[in-house]
Amino acid sequence: MYNVWIKRKTSNEVDTIVLPLFEEKLQVEDKEINKKLARLKNKDQFKGSFGEIAELTRNVNDVIQDVIILGLGKEEDVNREKLRRAFGKVQKTIEKLKSEEIFLEFININNISVEESLKIISEGLNLSAYKFDKYKKNKSEQKVINIYIDGQEIDDIKIKDYEKSLDETNNIVKSIYDARDIVNEPANVIYPETLGIKAIEFGEKYNFEVEIFNDIEIEALGMDAFLSVGKGSDNKPRLIIMRYFGDEENKDKKIGLVGKGITYDAGGYSIKSTEGMVTMKADMGGAATVIGAMCSIAKNKLKANVIAVVAACENLISGHAYKPGDIINSMAGKTIEVLNTDAEGRLTLIDAITYIIRNEKVNEVIDVATLTGAAVVSLGTDVTAVVTNNNEFYNELKKATDITGEKMWQMPNFDDYKKLIESDIADLKNIGGKYAGAITAGLFVGEFVENKSWLHLDIAGPAYIDSSWDYCVKGATGAGIRTLYELIKNRI
Ligand code: BES
Ligand code: MN
Ligand code: ZN
Repeated sequence: MYNVWIKRKTSNEVDTIVLPLFEEKLQVEDKEINKKLARLKNKDQFKGSFGEIAELTRNVNDVIQDVIILGLGKEEDVNREKLRRAFGKVQKTIEKLKSEEIFLEFININNISVEESLKIISEGLNLSAYKFDKYKKNKSEQKVINIYIDGQEIDDIKIKDYEKSLDETNNIVKSIYDARDIVNEPANVIYPETLGIKAIEFGEKYNFEVEIFNDIEIEALGMDAFLSVGKGSDNKPRLIIMRYFGDEENKDKKIGLVGKGITYDAGGYSIKSTEGMVTMKADMGGAATVIGAMCSIAKNKLKANVIAVVAACENLISGHAYKPGDIINSMAGKTIEVLNTDAEGRLTLIDAITYIIRNEKVNEVIDVATLTGAAVVSLGTDVTAVVTNNNEFYNELKKATDITGEKMWQMPNFDDYKKLIESDIADLKNIGGKYAGAITAGLFVGEFVENKSWLHLDIAGPAYIDSSWDYCVKGATGAGIRTLYELIKNRI
């Protein structure tokens, strides 16, 4: 964990100094650093362009300090996300240099308040520092690294406020770590029962209610679609319900979050290739995101009422599994022709949505799911595909992403797409054919939101990544957690 402190040490008392610089002003006060910087500049080895890093040293009373120079590019081009990414890169350098006590020269950035800059710096450093190496013999040490900022530039009375804001950020980052962990855990460790146990542990730790229904209780609710997907596995399904009431005065104002919780997706009888299957422990990424959002919201005691539901099961083959061609029912009473058992996520989501609307009585719904390869084909690996029935709700989401830097984009939802999921022999079919797969999947889910405002986030691309970039580490990312938190916080 990287702790950001304001005004506790001077630059002489640390092992490393971090100096962010705009490219138009490659100058620092310290003479030794300045000379070294000029030398690099003359040799064209450092221009101060965005994300560029130079490693120097300086001598203070015969002790050698490391100096990390961070190029920020042109001042007018720096924004929140760039700052976050730049500090993701700085973290990698800090790790390499084995720095522990760091002095950061604070730099004021156009249009970003000091408070927000501090939060973003802390976020960038900590998101980048995440590791999942518990199964390796050579684990990295979990150290606390202190980053000190000279408070001179910073208003004295505000320091307490800044520290509170930094706590808020740390709480969110820790929830993202928890969410990344449960996604990175393999499917022999995290299956519906153990995912439920994780939710209970988080609920006890951060103060939200958790209720778990087993297969018999799920059957009593009439969740035939959800049960059909899970039938092929010996690991029984679980319905995980999390409730947080932070706004007691408005008890009937509740926002509902639904996360796809396929703890393993082999595809069922429409079986995947080994290559397609190997990362499918991560098919509960949507569940991890809503759990992470609940933890962040509860830890920071937001004044909001939030209910989250996860229909957790495994999609496998066996003598009990559902089959292509089956016609199944749903909690809402609509029948579904299953033409592909690998389009399972939507079948679990719809029953969770019916439950959260009818039984938990939420006013609006956001579902989050690693739902379609088509979303990745349409928008690439880093962008969440959004389907909605309410443009104002979508605008709230966009506003939140402006702050968090998470990339999300709305898909068209023309009525004609709905024809693609009409079945000849049932109310709906679970695939829409070859084209517009992310949209037809979204609209299938949308058939079950009754009259509620709804956002559908297909995180198949950003939830789990093959290679690291800036502050996002290879594997599970916790995509969507920061944005859900921000959206809900913005309403208060
Ligand atoms: N979990 C997958 C989607 C997925 C694929 C997520 C790749 C992350 C990376 C989902 O259950 C699935 O298999 N979807 C099918 C739908 C198709 C059968 C209509 C797909 O995208 O191929
Ligand atoms: Mn699937
Ligand atoms: Zn799936």
